[in-house]
Amino acid sequence: MIVDTHCHLNDERLAPEADAIAEGLFDRGIESAICVGYDMPSSEAAVRLAEKHENIYAAIGIHPHDAVTADYDSYERLATLSSSSKVVAIGEIGLDYHYDLSPRAIQKGAFREQIELADVLGLPIALHIREAYEDARQILFENRGYLNNGVLLHCYSGSAEFVKIFGELDAYFAFGGAITFNNARHNIEALKAVPHDRLLLETDCPYMTPVPFRGKTNRPEYITYVAQKAAEVLGLAATDIGDITSRNAKRLFTRMK
Ligand code: NI
Repeated sequence: MIVDTHCHLNDERLAPEADAIAEGLFDRGIESAICVGYDMPSSEAAVRLAEKHENIYAAIGIHPHDAVTADYDSYERLATLSSSSKVVAIGEIGLDYHYDLSPRAIQKGAFREQIELADVLGLPIALHIREAYEDARQILFENRGYLNNGVLLHCYSGSAEFVKIFGELDAYFAFGGAITFNNARHNIEALKAVPHDRLLLETDCPYMTPVPFRGKTNRPEYITYVAQKAAEVLGLAATDIGDITSRNAKRLFTRMK
């Protein structure tokens, strides 16, 4: 059985069928999925869905794209939402210099503040880092004292070298559809560098659709294609990669059953 550690059933493309998707996960070999928020409305939607379905968990936070919307009120609201036992992480938070939808200084501020918030709340952080690995490294190491509950680099797109660097923080690394792409050499090298006990799988659906469905809307059940590819790269059986990564998910997300 596989855990999809990062999906957006709260996205408008999947939300209309989110209940049906949740109910069908088990039959497709997926024991649970974490629905991830990226702003306040999507974080609230993730918690509502998680409260409704035993096999859905929630991560709540403000994405770097939306960092301009982060303020004291939103952090208060995140703290209140985190009292649900189904909230397993603060995320996705981080830095995105590819789109720069919020100014970088504001992204960094919201990132630092939510790292501290996660520590106060006793939750791990789920990070979205894109084209900003050096600044992310600096912020994480400066705030090392707040990283007491675990760090996950979602949709890991950094180098094998950065796997070693973040490994000093005992970080986990999640891989998704990108490892199935034809030009995945860089991601495959990184995947090979991750210790097996720090590896997670995800879809990031409706984004990052794996081969052979590229161009279509991604869905949680396509995680089997990610698992197959990861197993092939690492020389493991497909069932073993499911077991290993599910065990890792439960170790990192301590509220997950
Ligand atoms: Ni995401």
